[in-house]
Formats: sequence, structure tokens, C-alpha cells
Amino acid sequence: MIIDAKGLKKTFTSRSRKGVQTVEAVRGVGLEVKEGEIFGVLGPNGAGKTTTIRMLATLIRPDAGTAVIAGHDLLKEPAAIRRALGYVSQAGGVEEQNSPRAQVTFAAKLYGVADAAAAADRVLKRFDLADIADRPGRTLSGGQKRRVAIALGLVHTPPLLFLDEPTTGLDPQNRANLWDRIRELSEQGTSVLLSTHYLEEADALCDRLAIVDHGVVVAEGTPAELKREVSGDVVTLRLDDPGRAAATLAPLAKDTRVDEGVLRVYVDDGEHTLPSLLRALQEERLVLSSISLDRATLDDVFLAKTGRSLRDTGAEA
Ligand SMILES: Nc1ncnc2c1ncn2[C@@H]1O[C@H](COP(=O)(O)OP(=O)(O)OP(=O)(O)O)[C@@H](O)[C@H]1O
Ligand SMILES: [Mg+2]
Repeated sequence: MIIDAKGLKKTFTSRSRKGVQTVEAVRGVGLEVKEGEIFGVLGPNGAGKTTTIRMLATLIRPDAGTAVIAGHDLLKEPAAIRRALGYVSQAGGVEEQNSPRAQVTFAAKLYGVADAAAAADRVLKRFDLADIADRPGRTLSGGQKRRVAIALGLVHTPPLLFLDEPTTGLDPQNRANLWDRIRELSEQGTSVLLSTHYLEEADALCDRLAIVDHGVVVAEGTPAELKREVSGDVVTLRLDDPGRAAATLAPLAKDTRVDEGVLRVYVDDGEHTLPSLLRALQEERLVLSSISLDRATLDDVFLAKTGRSLRDTGAEA
């Protein structure tokens, strides 16, 4: 286990004209990350992902909880933990004036890497940055900046890498490209903890994940395990009276949910249940405007655990 965290909590207090405000950002999070795996923390905006990662990276002190990271105690041995990890923040700082090569070489020196120039060269090549390594940071595209930020966190080849929303704002091609790089790192033994609010990223990239909402873990497992929990298929229906339709179909389904006027019906075997669902609606004179049949997704897991859809939180781009 490279990360074994239990009961992490963090409350922020801020003062403004309206008085003192407190936010319980993280309300008791536990995470177990195995060596060499890609572990995802999936959740909507404000769920507590960044706060959790910052606590694990020793950047802010938890109010409660314990963690052992790379064999070191979070509270007693923060310096040893810092040596074992690379951290790429959500904003991912790339300097405007300096070139990627200068920044990455500087980071290598700061980490005490023996041959900083060679290490910088290697990591710049691996992230396809060799051709643009000597241009000022401000001339880089968003995707290139993101890759430089990750190179900065990796130049000292840490066994553990924290990536806070590494692909936010990237186009699908750049995102897939970065996934490949992250997979390569994992294959070579680097453990990766990343946060994301992209369902498909969590599904495609992570070996295991924790779904967080309002500062707590609401579900944890491999993407396949999580989807198996809600299991089977989802029939999504749009119609005038979803509430009455839900009541009509409930006896034929494992579960039904109405969310923003859309009815989701969870069944084990969608293809064979569909005709009887349609018949029941017809008997009640409920008129459909659309219907679709899909395998359960991580969003269905999120919906089942929190009562709302992650897509509807505005998280999914
Ligand atoms: N320094 C701070 N002072 C006050 N409140 C804070 C502070 N940092 C975070 N918060 C609050 O804590 C909650 C959790 O924030 P956090 O940044 O951990 O969420 P997140 O899951 O990373 O969200 P996002 O997907 O938007 O990055 C939010 O309500 C946020 O406003
Ligand atoms: Mg965040």
C-alpha cells in the first residue's frame, strides 16, 4: 500500500463582510492506494478533491485523521513524504518568461537530481516537448502547458505522483494522449493518484477509484465493480409524467429514479424487459417522447449513491 489514509478531515474558516464562514471541505475521507496503480478521486466541483490531495501531499495539515504514505507517517515525517512524491496542482504553474527546458532543469536541481540537464531532457522527450522546449512558456498551447506541468512533477522520477485534474480543459485528442503517458508511468511502477470530474476518464484510466461528494467517499472500487453494483442496464425515458410512469414501471424494475424530468429505470436485462415496460406504459396511456437503453455507467453509480447525476452538477464538459 503506497497510501493508507483514514478519517481525513479539513474545515476552512474564512472571514468576509458577511462574517465568519466555515466550510467542511473534507469530512472523513479514507483512501487505500496500492503500489503501481492508477487511483482516481472522482467528484463534482467543490467535492473536496483538491483539499484531499493537498493534505496527502503535506501542503495543508488535516484537522483529523491519519495517513501512511510511501511508508512514512503524514504528520510525523512530512519531509520524507515530500521526497517520495511529485505533485502537479490543478492550476499547474508554468512560467511565462522561461522555457520548459529551463524550468524542468531548475526543478531537477531543486530535487537534487544528479544530472539535472539529462533528466530534464529525458522527461521533455517523453512528453513530446523536445521541439518546443526552448520557447518561452507563454507561447505554449494549453495542452503543451499541461504536459510541461506534469514534466515538472516527474523530473526526479518519484515513486508516487499526484495529479490534480490533469486533463481539465484539454481537447479529446490531447486528453487521450495524456492518458497514454499516465498509463506508461503506471506500467513502469509509478503509483498515480489523480482527481477528475470526467466520468469517462475515471472509467478508462483508473484501476480503482473513490467517488467523493460533499467531502465524503460515497463509493469505492474498480470501475467494473462499481458499475456492477448498480448492475445491468438503464432504460432512460422522457415523457410528460415521469412520476406516474415511475410508479407504473417500479414493479418491473430493480429501481427507478426521476431526475430533472427524466426517468431512469434500472433492470437486469434491458433487451428483454423493454417490451413489457412499453406495454405497461401503453396500458396507462403514458406517451413517450424518447427512450434509450444503455449499460450502467459511473454516472449511474453516482446517481444511485447521491441522488443526483454528476453530469447535472455541470462537472462533465
Ligand atoms: N482555502 C480555502 N478557504 C476556504 N474554503 C476553501 C478553501 N479551499 C477550499 N475551500 C472550499 O472547500 C470545498 C472543497 O474544495 P476543493 O477545492 O477541495 O474541491 P474540489 O473537489 O477540488 O473542486 P473542483 O473540482 O472545483 O476543483 C469548496 O467548497 C471550497 O470552496
Ligand atoms: Mg479541485
